[in-house]
Amino acid sequence: MAIQDKALDGCTALVTGGSRGIGRAICVALAARGAKVAINYRSREDAAQQTAELVAKAGGTAVLAGFDIGDAEAATAGVAAVGKEHGLHILVNNAGIAINGLIMRVKPADWEQVIGVNLTGSFTCSKAAIRHILKAKEKGRIINLSSVVGESGNPGQAAYSAAKAGILGMTKSMAKEFASRGITVNAITPGFIATDMTDEHLPEEQREALVSSIPLARIGEPEAVADAVAFLAGPEASYITGHVLRVNGGLLM
Ligand SMILES: NC(=O)c1ccc[n+]([C@@H]2O[C@H](COP(=O)([O-])OP(=O)(O)OC[C@H]3O[C@@H](n4cnc5c(N)ncnc54)[C@H](OP(=O)(O)O)[C@@H]3O)[C@@H](O)[C@H]2O)c1
Repeated sequence: MAIQDKALDGCTALVTGGSRGIGRAICVALAARGAKVAINYRSREDAAQQTAELVAKAGGTAVLAGFDIGDAEAATAGVAAVGKEHGLHILVNNAGIAINGLIMRVKPADWEQVIGVNLTGSFTCSKAAIRHILKAKEKGRIINLSSVVGESGNPGQAAYSAAKAGILGMTKSMAKEFASRGITVNAITPGFIATDMTDEHLPEEQREALVSSIPLARIGEPEAVADAVAFLAGPEASYITGHVLRVNGGLLM
């Protein structure tokens, strides 16, 4: 059940990868709390536009911000443009990709790309955003999307797991760096959530085996992660920083 209290009125949130999946649900959840939302996407402008329509339905305002977070120059300029035009209080580093393969077969270029988008992309956006977020003082938030496999590891996902584990270290370091300014930095580690990412990467028989290993015995919806983001973005989470919030149905405890 999304929080609807408008506690984020007057705040602008930039959500990377807001065009689809978890990022789309995050945009809607933050808009429901009153935030203006900048929806980042890489190539699917049509999907980003659909997210903007859902934000409008939730009573919110959205702007589109297309750039590739894996391209440091484009991402730095894209984040700066949002900050300059709309101000920036909340950054959600959500955009991510998975390229799976056993370590003996992983191509170095794929390794670089997975680390480059998930980890370096989150670093680039955070670095570009922080000069704006500092002005938000105690309303400032950075929320990073890691993954259960960043904590547990997973065969066939060494690059993805390494990137998501790196995000946890980065989150805690940033939390310590910005705490004196009242800005909180937290991470979420989703388990298995129904999106294009999991549709593309999991054959049906593996899906059934995975569901049977989840104590809550179901795949999560993107809204479960979005509600956790909306909580961490709000005033009730102002004394929570450097935290790793598991949204995984009990898959990892
Ligand atoms: N789904 C899960 O079970 C799960 C579990 C744990 C963690 N996560 C993490 O949660 C986050 C969202 O996952 P999801 O399942 O919602 O993924 P998704 O459905 O595949 O959507 C990915 C989103 O990221 C954007 N994106 C990808 N590469 C980008 C880039 N280089 N620059 C800018 N945007 C980029 C895509 O934009 P376009 O639409 O333009 O392509 C899209 O909006 C990711 O960080 C993922 O690793 C997901």
